[in-house]
Amino acid sequence: MSYDDAIEALSKDALKFVKNNSVLGLGSGRAATAFVKQLGGYIKRKKLNIRGVPTSLQIKLIAEQAGIHLISADQVEKIDVVFDGADQIDSKKYLIKGGGGALLRENILISSAEKIVIMADASKFVKNFTRTVPVEVHPFARNTVQKFIKKLGGKPQIRTIERGYPFITENGNIIYDCDFGTIKTPGSLALKIKQIPGVVEAGIFVRKPDVIYKAKENGKFEII
Ligand code: A5P
Repeated sequence: MSYDDAIEALSKDALKFVKNNSVLGLGSGRAATAFVKQLGGYIKRKKLNIRGVPTSLQIKLIAEQAGIHLISADQVEKIDVVFDGADQIDSKKYLIKGGGGALLRENILISSAEKIVIMADASKFVKNFTRTVPVEVHPFARNTVQKFIKKLGGKPQIRTIERGYPFITENGNIIYDCDFGTIKTPGSLALKIKQIPGVVEAGIFVRKPDVIYKAKENGKFEII
Protein backbone atom coordinates (compact mmCIF):
# COMPACT_ATOMS: atom_id res chain seq x y z
CA MET A 1 0.00 0.00 0.00
CA SER A 2 1.22 3.50 -0.85
CA TYR A 3 0.25 7.15 -1.22
CA ASP A 4 -0.96 6.35 -4.73
CA ASP A 5 -3.40 3.75 -3.37
CA ALA A 6 -4.63 6.31 -0.85
CA ILE A 7 -5.07 8.96 -3.54
CA GLU A 8 -7.05 6.52 -5.65
CA ALA A 9 -9.23 5.55 -2.69
CA LEU A 10 -9.94 9.14 -1.67
CA SER A 11 -10.66 10.10 -5.29
CA LYS A 12 -13.46 7.54 -5.29
CA ASP A 13 -14.74 8.87 -1.98
CA ALA A 14 -14.69 12.47 -3.24
CA LEU A 15 -17.20 11.53 -5.94
CA LYS A 16 -19.86 11.95 -3.26
CA PHE A 17 -19.45 15.72 -3.66
CA VAL A 18 -20.45 15.50 -7.34
CA LYS A 19 -24.11 16.40 -7.81
CA ASN A 20 -26.10 16.19 -11.04
CA ASN A 21 -26.33 19.33 -13.21
CA SER A 22 -23.25 20.93 -11.71
CA VAL A 23 -20.14 22.71 -12.96
CA LEU A 24 -16.89 21.34 -11.57
CA GLY A 25 -13.50 23.02 -11.46
CA LEU A 26 -10.79 20.52 -12.34
CA GLY A 27 -7.43 21.29 -10.71
CA SER A 28 -4.07 20.15 -12.04
CA GLY A 29 -1.47 17.64 -10.95
CA ARG A 30 -1.34 14.08 -9.67
CA ALA A 31 -4.24 14.16 -7.21
CA ALA A 32 -6.51 16.03 -9.62
CA THR A 33 -5.61 13.51 -12.34
CA ALA A 34 -6.59 10.56 -10.14
CA PHE A 35 -9.90 12.25 -9.36
CA VAL A 36 -10.69 13.19 -12.98
CA LYS A 37 -10.09 9.60 -14.11
CA GLN A 38 -12.63 8.39 -11.54
CA LEU A 39 -15.02 11.19 -12.45
CA GLY A 40 -15.26 10.18 -16.12
CA GLY A 41 -16.51 6.68 -15.29
CA TYR A 42 -18.82 7.97 -12.55
CA ILE A 43 -20.55 10.42 -14.92
CA LYS A 44 -21.16 7.63 -17.44
CA ARG A 45 -22.39 5.10 -14.86
CA LYS A 46 -24.77 7.55 -13.22
CA LYS A 47 -25.70 9.32 -16.48
CA LEU A 48 -24.97 12.73 -14.95
CA ASN A 49 -25.05 16.11 -16.63
CA ILE A 50 -21.69 17.53 -15.56
CA ARG A 51 -19.55 20.22 -17.11
CA GLY A 52 -15.89 20.52 -16.16
CA VAL A 53 -13.68 23.60 -16.24
CA PRO A 54 -10.03 22.54 -16.63
CA THR A 55 -7.30 24.66 -15.01
CA SER A 56 -4.54 23.55 -17.39
CA LEU A 57 -3.84 21.76 -20.61
CA GLN A 58 -2.45 18.91 -18.47
CA ILE A 59 -5.82 18.18 -16.86
CA LYS A 60 -7.72 19.07 -20.01
CA LEU A 61 -6.05 16.17 -21.83
CA ILE A 62 -6.87 13.77 -18.99
CA ALA A 63 -10.47 15.00 -18.81
CA GLU A 64 -10.93 14.67 -22.57
CA GLN A 65 -9.72 11.08 -22.41
CA ALA A 66 -12.15 10.46 -19.57
CA GLY A 67 -14.99 11.75 -21.78
CA ILE A 68 -15.89 14.72 -19.57
CA HIS A 69 -17.79 17.59 -21.20
CA LEU A 70 -15.48 20.59 -20.88
CA ILE A 71 -16.15 24.30 -20.97
CA SER A 72 -14.19 27.44 -20.20
CA ALA A 73 -14.61 29.46 -16.98
CA ASP A 74 -15.93 32.42 -18.95
CA GLN A 75 -18.87 30.33 -20.18
CA VAL A 76 -20.34 29.78 -16.72
CA GLU A 77 -21.63 32.04 -14.01
CA LYS A 78 -20.55 29.89 -11.13
CA ILE A 79 -18.40 26.90 -10.27
CA ASP A 80 -20.10 24.50 -7.88
CA VAL A 81 -17.15 22.44 -6.64
CA VAL A 82 -13.42 22.56 -7.33
CA PHE A 83 -11.35 19.39 -6.89
CA ASP A 84 -7.63 20.05 -6.69
CA GLY A 85 -4.33 19.06 -5.11
CA ALA A 86 -1.92 21.24 -3.14
CA ASP A 87 1.81 21.63 -2.68
CA GLN A 88 1.59 22.46 1.03
CA ILE A 89 -1.23 22.97 3.55
CA ASP A 90 -0.52 24.83 6.78
CA SER A 91 -2.24 24.48 10.13
CA LYS A 92 -4.60 27.37 9.32
CA LYS A 93 -5.59 25.65 6.04
CA TYR A 94 -3.89 28.14 3.77
CA LEU A 95 -2.51 26.47 0.64
CA ILE A 96 0.63 26.75 -1.41
CA LYS A 97 -0.14 25.93 -5.02
CA GLY A 98 1.52 26.33 -8.38
CA GLY A 99 4.04 23.49 -8.31
CA GLY A 100 2.79 22.59 -11.78
CA GLY A 101 2.50 26.22 -12.89
CA ALA A 102 -1.31 26.37 -13.09
CA LEU A 103 -1.74 28.74 -10.13
CA LEU A 104 -3.53 31.57 -11.95
CA ARG A 105 -6.42 29.48 -13.24
CA GLU A 106 -6.51 27.40 -10.07
CA ASN A 107 -6.85 30.47 -7.88
CA ILE A 108 -9.51 32.00 -10.14
CA LEU A 109 -11.65 28.89 -9.69
CA ILE A 110 -10.80 28.26 -6.03
CA SER A 111 -11.51 31.82 -4.94
CA SER A 112 -14.95 31.86 -6.55
CA ALA A 113 -16.31 28.31 -6.18
CA GLU A 114 -19.12 27.31 -3.84
CA LYS A 115 -17.13 24.40 -2.42
CA ILE A 116 -13.44 23.49 -2.43
CA VAL A 117 -12.21 19.91 -2.08
CA ILE A 118 -8.43 19.53 -1.69
CA MET A 119 -6.65 16.19 -1.93
CA ALA A 120 -3.04 15.82 -0.81
CA ASP A 121 -0.66 13.31 0.71
CA ALA A 122 0.41 13.52 4.34
CA SER A 123 3.87 14.90 3.49
CA LYS A 124 2.26 18.16 2.33
CA PHE A 125 0.77 19.02 5.75
CA VAL A 126 2.89 21.43 7.83
CA LYS A 127 2.42 23.77 10.79
CA ASN A 128 3.90 26.73 8.86
CA PHE A 129 4.82 26.81 5.19
CA THR A 130 8.40 25.80 4.50
CA ARG A 131 8.50 25.36 0.73
CA THR A 132 9.08 28.00 -1.94
CA VAL A 133 6.14 30.13 -3.06
CA PRO A 134 5.48 30.07 -6.83
CA VAL A 135 4.88 33.58 -8.17
CA GLU A 136 3.66 34.06 -11.75
CA VAL A 137 5.16 37.19 -13.29
CA HIS A 138 4.74 39.01 -16.57
CA PRO A 139 8.11 38.73 -18.37
CA PHE A 140 8.27 42.55 -18.78
CA ALA A 141 8.46 42.83 -14.98
CA ARG A 142 11.16 40.17 -14.54
CA ASN A 143 13.73 42.45 -12.91
CA THR A 144 11.44 44.80 -11.04
CA VAL A 145 9.47 41.97 -9.40
CA GLN A 146 12.71 40.29 -8.40
CA LYS A 147 13.75 43.43 -6.50
CA PHE A 148 10.39 43.72 -4.71
CA ILE A 149 10.46 40.04 -3.71
CA LYS A 150 13.93 40.51 -2.22
CA LYS A 151 12.68 43.57 -0.30
CA LEU A 152 9.98 41.34 1.19
CA GLY A 153 12.73 39.00 2.39
CA GLY A 154 12.36 36.38 -0.33
CA LYS A 155 14.94 34.71 -2.56
CA PRO A 156 13.42 34.41 -6.04
CA GLN A 157 14.65 31.71 -8.41
CA ILE A 158 13.35 31.65 -11.97
CA ARG A 159 11.73 28.28 -12.74
CA THR A 160 13.41 26.43 -15.58
CA ILE A 161 12.84 23.20 -17.45
CA GLU A 162 15.51 20.97 -18.98
CA ARG A 163 18.69 22.61 -20.32
CA GLY A 164 17.89 25.84 -18.49
CA TYR A 165 15.00 27.01 -20.66
CA PRO A 166 12.63 29.18 -18.63
CA PHE A 167 9.32 27.58 -17.76
CA ILE A 168 6.56 29.55 -19.51
CA THR A 169 3.04 29.29 -18.11
CA GLU A 170 -0.04 28.76 -20.26
CA ASN A 171 -0.60 32.50 -19.89
CA GLY A 172 2.81 33.34 -21.40
CA ASN A 173 4.42 34.31 -18.09
CA ILE A 174 7.45 33.20 -16.07
CA ILE A 175 7.48 31.79 -12.54
CA TYR A 176 9.72 32.75 -9.66
CA ASP A 177 9.93 30.11 -6.95
CA CYS A 178 10.52 32.32 -3.93
CA ASP A 179 12.16 31.10 -0.75
CA PHE A 180 10.76 32.97 2.27
CA GLY A 181 11.99 30.41 4.82
CA THR A 182 9.28 29.52 7.33
CA ILE A 183 6.16 31.58 6.63
CA LYS A 184 4.27 32.53 9.78
CA THR A 185 1.92 35.14 8.29
CA PRO A 186 0.90 33.72 4.88
CA GLY A 187 -2.18 35.92 4.47
CA SER A 188 -0.28 39.20 4.69
CA LEU A 189 2.63 37.86 2.61
CA ALA A 190 0.21 36.81 -0.15
CA LEU A 191 -1.28 40.29 -0.14
CA LYS A 192 2.12 41.99 -0.33
CA ILE A 193 3.27 39.78 -3.21
CA LYS A 194 0.05 40.36 -5.13
CA GLN A 195 0.45 44.12 -4.78
CA ILE A 196 3.73 44.10 -6.76
CA PRO A 197 3.13 45.48 -10.27
CA GLY A 198 3.79 42.71 -12.77
CA VAL A 199 2.81 39.89 -10.45
CA VAL A 200 0.02 37.94 -12.10
CA GLU A 201 -0.61 35.48 -9.28
CA ALA A 202 0.91 34.40 -5.97
CA GLY A 203 0.95 30.73 -4.99
CA ILE A 204 -0.31 31.34 -1.43
CA PHE A 205 -4.07 30.78 -1.60
CA VAL A 206 -6.06 32.40 1.19
CA ARG A 207 -9.47 30.86 0.44
CA LYS A 208 -9.71 27.97 2.86
CA PRO A 209 -10.93 24.59 1.55
CA ASP A 210 -14.24 23.16 2.75
CA VAL A 211 -12.99 19.58 2.61
CA ILE A 212 -9.39 18.38 2.84
CA TYR A 213 -8.41 14.79 2.12
CA LYS A 214 -5.15 13.56 3.62
CA ALA A 215 -3.65 10.51 1.89
CA LYS A 216 -1.54 8.28 4.12
CA GLU A 217 1.38 6.04 3.30
CA ASN A 218 -0.55 2.93 4.38
CA GLY A 219 -3.05 3.44 1.52
CA LYS A 220 -5.74 4.89 3.79
CA PHE A 221 -6.98 8.48 4.00
CA GLU A 222 -8.69 10.84 6.40
CA ILE A 223 -10.94 13.84 5.89
CA ILE A 224 -10.08 17.03 7.73
C1 A5P B 1 -0.51 22.86 -10.10
O1 A5P B 1 -0.04 24.11 -10.47
C2 A5P B 1 -0.45 22.70 -8.62
O2 A5P B 1 -1.06 23.70 -7.90
C3 A5P B 1 -0.91 21.33 -8.17
O3 A5P B 1 -2.25 21.31 -7.81
C4 A5P B 1 -0.07 20.96 -7.01
O4 A5P B 1 1.27 21.06 -7.45
C5 A5P B 1 -0.36 19.57 -6.46
O5 A5P B 1 0.03 18.63 -7.40
P1 A5P B 1 0.13 17.09 -7.04
O6 A5P B 1 -1.24 16.59 -6.76
O7 A5P B 1 0.74 16.51 -8.29
O8 A5P B 1 1.07 16.95 -5.87
